[in-house]
This record gives sequence, C-alpha cells and structure tokens, in this order.
Amino acid sequence: MSHQLPDGFLWGAATAAHQIEGGNVNNDWWEREHAHPPVVPESSGDACDSYHRYEEDLDLVVELGLNAYRFSLEWSRIEPAEAEFSVAALDYYRRVVEACVARGLTPMVTLHHFTVPLWFARAGGWRAPGAADRFERYCERVLPVIGEAVPWVCTINEPNLLAVLSPILERGATPKSFPSEPDHALGEVLLVAHRKARDVLASLPTVRSGYTVACFNFHPVDTVVPEWTPLAMDWYLEQAADDDFLGVQCYSRVLLGPEGPLEPDPSAERTSIGTEYYPDCVAETVARAWGLSGHTPLLVTENGIPTNDDEQRERYLREAVAGLGRAMAEGIDVGGYFHWSLIDNFEWVWGFGPKYGLAAVNRETFARTLKPSARVFADIARRGRI
Ligand code: FCB
Repeated sequence: MSHQLPDGFLWGAATAAHQIEGGNVNNDWWEREHAHPPVVPESSGDACDSYHRYEEDLDLVVELGLNAYRFSLEWSRIEPAEAEFSVAALDYYRRVVEACVARGLTPMVTLHHFTVPLWFARAGGWRAPGAADRFERYCERVLPVIGEAVPWVCTINEPNLLAVLSPILERGATPKSFPSEPDHALGEVLLVAHRKARDVLASLPTVRSGYTVACFNFHPVDTVVPEWTPLAMDWYLEQAADDDFLGVQCYSRVLLGPEGPLEPDPSAERTSIGTEYYPDCVAETVARAWGLSGHTPLLVTENGIPTNDDEQRERYLREAVAGLGRAMAEGIDVGGYFHWSLIDNFEWVWGFGPKYGLAAVNRETFARTLKPSARVFADIARRGRI
C-alpha cells in the first residue's frame, strides 16, 4: 500500500542554533558547559561553525532534494542584554531566511530552542515574574525576520522537556533517566509564553504558529503509572487544540513502570545512547497527538536516531516514514516530516557523542559529508508517495 502525499508536503531537516552555530557564549547552556563540576561532558565550542557556514548547510538540504529547513534563532545573540537588541544579529537571521528562499526552501523558524540569554537566566529564568513578557518582547522584535518569508514558526521547542529537565539542571545535576517528574508550574509559564508569542505572530497573516512536544511515547507495562505521567506530555498535546499546528517530535518509546521509566527489554535492539530502536514511534505519536489535540494539523518537526551505524539509520528512516504513511492513510493530517538532524551536532547533556546527522561534520575542518542514509531519505522525499 502506498499513500499519495498532499501538495506542499514538507520534507525537511532540522537543526537548532546552539547545537550548530558555535560561539554562543552568552546563554545559559554555555554557562552550564563551563560549570564546576561539569553538568555537560564538553563545551559546545565552535559546534559546527554553522554561524558562518549556514550556506553550506542549506546547500546540503538542496542537494538532497528536500524542500524545507527548520532552524532556530539564538535569543542571546538577538538580545544580548535586557532590552538591548542587536541589529546585526537580526540582519544575520534575515540573511539566513533569504538564503533559504533563494534556494527554494521553505524556512521553519523556532524562536526558542532550549537556550535563554544569560541575563534572562540570572534574573530567574522562566520562574521570574515577567518572564513570559520578556519572551513576548523578544518575539515582537524578531517579527521583521519572519516577515512574509517564513510560513511556519515554532514558538517554543519542547516546553514539556524543559519542564522535566529544568529542575534537574538548576540543581547542577546531569539528568540520568528520561523523563522524570516535571515542574508543572514551569510548564504553565511556558504555555503562557507560547500563547503570547502566538498572539504576536498573529499580526503576520501568512504565519502559522505552534509549539513542538517531546513525544516520549510511553508504553505502560502495568496498570499503575506515576501520577505525573500526563503532565509530562499529554497535557501539552491537549493544550495545542487552538494552535495552527502542533509539532510532534519522537525518537523511540519509553517503557513505563509504576515508579517511572524502565530500561528497554534486554532483547531489544538499541541505539548508540541505549534507547530502544523503535521507528514505529512516528505512527504511534502522531496518532496520540491527533487525538489529544482534537485534530490540530500536525507536522513531524523532529524524528531521527542516534547511531554510529548508518545502515541502522537507513532502516530506521524507511520504517519511520512507512509508519507516517500508514497514519496519514488513516486520515491524520500531517503536513511534513523533518529529520533530526541535518548534521551531527552538539547534543546537549550528551555533548558531541551521539550522531543523529544526515551528514557528518569534521570537527577540525568543519567539512560536511553526506552519509549514505541521506541518499535514502532523498529518495523517499523525491517520490511524492509513501
Ligand atoms: C530533542 C531536541 C533536539 C535534539 C534531539 C535529539 O529533544 O529538541 O534539540 O537534541 O532531541
């Protein structure tokens, strides 16, 4: 069985500023990377030097025949001190958008992808009174970057993961198992911030906005699950009911016992970070998001696999996309699929270890090399059917 894709279906690859740009020295993650004792195994440093090499990145997307690119704006570059906005940084991101358009790529822009400016963090971060208003002010200032050229805007990346990770990171600890009990008060602030951003973006009639959710894809092994389970994911899917779209992000599944996440079955195939090889996560999470959001149009804004075995990635890609086709054939509205990631990059608490990229990056020369799995993805995207 194959499924004909709707016109304008987005086939893309995704990245985020702090993970690829390099030199993001003015945000909370940089500080975390340099803390004593370290919370993160290494510094993001020069990352992939995409701040200077974004055209090379976009050329890879074109070379693969994809039609969309998701990237994020680095708030700490745009607003390096409170209420002090950098014209040069805004110009820079406008040039990135223009470079997408010039190549025929549809840009999807994320306004907040995990990092906040240091001044914002030091003032109490998302817990400080007025935090959502600060975010709103930043969103107003980036409107000229979005303009009419960017039809898709993700306001906040994975607010649910932020609500899980923040309490751990704030203690200076390294998160061990995913997910754990979220700080729901923080999640509520992030939802307020999202809605303020959405209202700001509504002044641009061509923009469709939404947030993205880390879809942990729980598989309970018992009738009893931790009380916090719905607040780690489902609540965010429900709250997207009035948004223009909802971004689904999934990688695997999480077996859930009464006390929390469990290790994968010993017989299960694993990824390089020990999670289960589970490409059906796409079919399962889009179905859940579709139901809980009350049929908000979906986009798969991230899906991929950390692996050093590129044949495993090929298999994963084929199976994940096949699952997407099945879900769409059942009537679920999915407008696009973005693979995480375009290039191997700085993976937060794991550093540069996990390789999610369609292209490898030489850490000395920054040369990008497409992997064979990227060609598999290109073939899938070219067909127009799944
Ligand atoms: C997601 C993040 C993304 C990337 C992938 C592997 O949670 O949004 O930045 O690190 O995981």
